[in-house]
Amino acid sequence: MAESKSQIRLAVLGAGKMGGILVEAFVRQGLVSPKNIFATVQHAGRKRPNASGLGVALGNDNRVAVKKADVVLLCVKPQTVAHVIDEINKELTEKKLLISIAASVPTDYIERRLGAKVPVIRAMPNTPSMVGEGITAIAKGKLATEKDVGTAQRLFGTVGRTVVTDEKNMDAITGLSASGPAFIYIILESLAEGGVKAGLSRELATLLAAQTALGSAKVVLETGHHPALLKDTVTTPAGCTIDGILELEEGGLRVTLIKAVMKAAQRAKELLMTDQES
Ligand SMILES: NC(=O)c1ccc[n+]([C@@H]2O[C@H](COP(=O)([O-])OP(=O)(O)OC[C@H]3O[C@@H](n4cnc5c(N)ncnc54)[C@H](OP(=O)(O)O)[C@@H]3O)[C@@H](O)[C@H]2O)c1
Repeated sequence: MAESKSQIRLAVLGAGKMGGILVEAFVRQGLVSPKNIFATVQHAGRKRPNASGLGVALGNDNRVAVKKADVVLLCVKPQTVAHVIDEINKELTEKKLLISIAASVPTDYIERRLGAKVPVIRAMPNTPSMVGEGITAIAKGKLATEKDVGTAQRLFGTVGRTVVTDEKNMDAITGLSASGPAFIYIILESLAEGGVKAGLSRELATLLAAQTALGSAKVVLETGHHPALLKDTVTTPAGCTIDGILELEEGGLRVTLIKAVMKAAQRAKELLMTDQES
């Protein structure tokens, strides 16, 4: 696939929440020129906060968008993937790269549905991408090359970290890092409620909870130490923290979080199938 950093011509099919975040990052970071992005949605007339002011063409003709692009970013819901692929099939050639961020949809499902030998990559970003702190897992289908993976890494690198992985991990990744922000927000909200119960204002409690989570996550990433060891450094004998930990254990926090990720991962496995049946 012939493209260089400044010359990527990109179709973003389904520029909704996630697609919109990505378009905004590509433009703001200068990776793709707005005139080279051809974004589509279902209802082109609606006001779009992410697209406004970026100078990106927004329409609802997927075929026209794909025709103009060398990289196609498929950002529609899993249940819409088949319909959109059938629609753009004729415009896709082996010279184009298709990157799908749809949960639950394997690359071989897309490859089988496509007529030509189009390289396909599956990517799973998450919503912290909106502040450049996302993580995107990238897996290649059977026709994608290392160069294609590099293209995906450059694109998703604009919204945070990237990790290249085997596709068999994608449903688990969906359950952990794509659903994970929702779990973390609930934890943050609950920690803040604890602060409120202990007499803090909600504003202060939320700030303390969020910065504590951010700082703790950074320590894990920067030291590479096991979280259990880091937890021990906070937990002094007969101190306050061990009393709090006792409550967490009694409440089953660990088991609850483990099961939440497992359930979300399981659902990610079923999503495409369920949507096709219903
Ligand atoms: N949100 C996340 O946290 C997240 C994380 C990782 C991956 N994903 C994946 O990203 C995909 C999109 O999720 P989302 O949360 O961004 O959903 P979303 O906000 O609903 O975006 C979907 C977009 O697709 C558009 N659309 C629907 N039918 C279309 C068609 N035939 N042609 C072109 N565009 C069409 C919709 O247009 P209208 O706006 O006009 O309805 C909408 O803008 C899903 O497959 C999901 O699994 C999401």
